[in-house]
Amino acid sequence: MSTMKETIEQIQKELTELKAASQKEVEEARVRFLGKKGSVTALMEQFRSVAPEMKREYGQKLNELKKSVTAKIEELKEQAAAAAVELAPKQDLTMPGDPFELGSRHPVSIVRQEIVDIFRKFGYDVAEGPEVEDDWHVFEALNFPPNHPAREMQDTFFVSTGHLNPLLLRTHTSSVQVRTMETHPLPIRVICPGRVFRNEAISARAHCIFHQVEGLYIDKNVTFADLKQAILLFAREMFGPDTQIRMRPSYFPFTEPSAEVDVSCNICHGKGCNICKGTGWLEIMGCGMVDPNVLEASGIDSKVYSGFAFGMGVERIAMLKWQVNDLRHYFENDMRFLHEFATATEV
Ligand code: PHE
Repeated sequence: MSTMKETIEQIQKELTELKAASQKEVEEARVRFLGKKGSVTALMEQFRSVAPEMKREYGQKLNELKKSVTAKIEELKEQAAAAAVELAPKQDLTMPGDPFELGSRHPVSIVRQEIVDIFRKFGYDVAEGPEVEDDWHVFEALNFPPNHPAREMQDTFFVSTGHLNPLLLRTHTSSVQVRTMETHPLPIRVICPGRVFRNEAISARAHCIFHQVEGLYIDKNVTFADLKQAILLFAREMFGPDTQIRMRPSYFPFTEPSAEVDVSCNICHGKGCNICKGTGWLEIMGCGMVDPNVLEASGIDSKVYSGFAFGMGVERIAMLKWQVNDLRHYFENDMRFLHEFATATEV
């Protein structure tokens, strides 16, 4: 048994001299003493065959040894960790932070918001409605004759055609105006911004998905003069105080009379350039007096009430505002294109 005593003393001596320069060396020392084949572990095995009358004495000694080994290893571990921090390259706290990129609004959103803000200022509310609609709200209630070409497959995307009341993607946000007339008390003064869908070939001037802002004003004694004034004020807010407008007769099933609105070209100021194709005028929207049939379809007495409506394409207004000559730029999300609007509007 003296050998066991000697081994304990030997280990104690080793322990007092133990040094470790790194965390790796600490771990090696731990394995040397306490690992499966470590010297302290071996002593523990040996302890099993110690004579019963000696167990108490050796048990104590061994426990103490294990405690001091563990404590020493802990101590060395802490020292090595502190040394590692000392050695690590210092953080330069004066370094500038990582730049973090701000997102910016899409040009179509910017212009839609601008249009909405102008009409809000005039006292209009904003109304929204579903993109998937029924025939009634997109066509029937808006006085479209049964065989009007807009109802055909080549103009409208149908979601389901199987049953009597097909579902379709709205081709204009006039559907929201119908929903407003059906539910809203009079007078009504709303604009309806939203996404619309038409089965058209994609080109520089047309897309199958685009955005509209349509407006509706219904009250007693609303006249064409009110319509013209509202549009003129809008055009001056949108394109500048010198802007002129002109109205050309047009046709829509839901308005009578109907007009197409042009604004004076804000590039050449009427002299004629390639943006206005030499005419001095740019077309911005359709409008007209709400057809009495449309009022009646929504349960409004057309002998007491009258109103006007207008509708414009947001991408078209954005093209005119920024002289963008291809509508497709607004849908392709080319960062070089989008970045131009971030700096033009957020600074
Ligand atoms: N709904 C028409 C369109 O989508 C625009 C419009 C609205 C015209 C209201 C006249 C009056 O083209």
